[in-house]
Amino acid sequence: MSVYIVLLGPPGAGKGTQAKVVSQKMGLPHISSGDIFRENINNLTALGTLAKGYMDRGELVPDDVTIAMIQERLSRPDCKPGALLDGFPRTPTQAEALERILLQFMGEVAIVPYINVPEAVLVDRLTGRWTCRAGAHVFHEHFNPPQKTGICDYDGSELYQRDDDKSETVSHRIRVYLQQTLPLIEYYKTQGKLLEVDGTLPIDRVSSVLLEELSRTVTG
Ligand code: AP5
Repeated sequence: MSVYIVLLGPPGAGKGTQAKVVSQKMGLPHISSGDIFRENINNLTALGTLAKGYMDRGELVPDDVTIAMIQERLSRPDCKPGALLDGFPRTPTQAEALERILLQFMGEVAIVPYINVPEAVLVDRLTGRWTCRAGAHVFHEHFNPPQKTGICDYDGSELYQRDDDKSETVSHRIRVYLQQTLPLIEYYKTQGKLLEVDGTLPIDRVSSVLLEELSRTVTG
């Protein structure tokens, strides 16, 4: 039986940070809609050109484009055991589409960890974030610094600051999250799938809480 996990949380909650740990421990591919858009931007594809305008403004890329992209990604062979989704779904329309897509694979969302972090903490997290070019590993100049400034600990590639991590764009992304993505908390709570995790704990602590809860739910 395939296992599909959806990570929810505001921008900067730590979804990408935790997804790297969880996907490795659980042997599930980490599917980050933001990372796929950024790969397309780097490769100068038509999808990347379209997405860039929205991302630079801190807006969501239109649902139809995003849904088609995730549907294609989930249909690849490495998703046979399931997947850990990070950044998708982000609107009720995307959540409904995900249900239809997973039905085609005879699957459904098993659990939705919601990494809860108060708004006041998010701006500091994002404006101090450094991301690696090769593997999208993330660091923070104060909370999780790399061993060598500007270099990724995992693959030695260059670290850079995302264009959408400027403080004005960050504030807009948080507003967009509150308007468009927050309703998903209730959506998955009603389905009995929401697992709230305190995202203000240190990174290692959040990982252990998450892994403990996930193994309980997924392996029964
Ligand atoms: P996306 O790339 O998905 O960005 P996001 O959801 O805004 O999330 P972030 O990557 O900013 O944060 P995160 O929660 O992963 O935090 P991280 O682990 O890095 O989306 C970007 C854009 O793409 C969107 O704005 C939109 O335009 C488009 N897009 C993407 N998906 C879409 C969709 N489905 N529909 C439409 N458009 C879409 O951590 C942040 C920082 O905090 C790091 O520096 C980290 O080291 C640090 N940190 C993490 N955990 C802790 C901790 N516990 N304590 C202290 N510091 C911590």
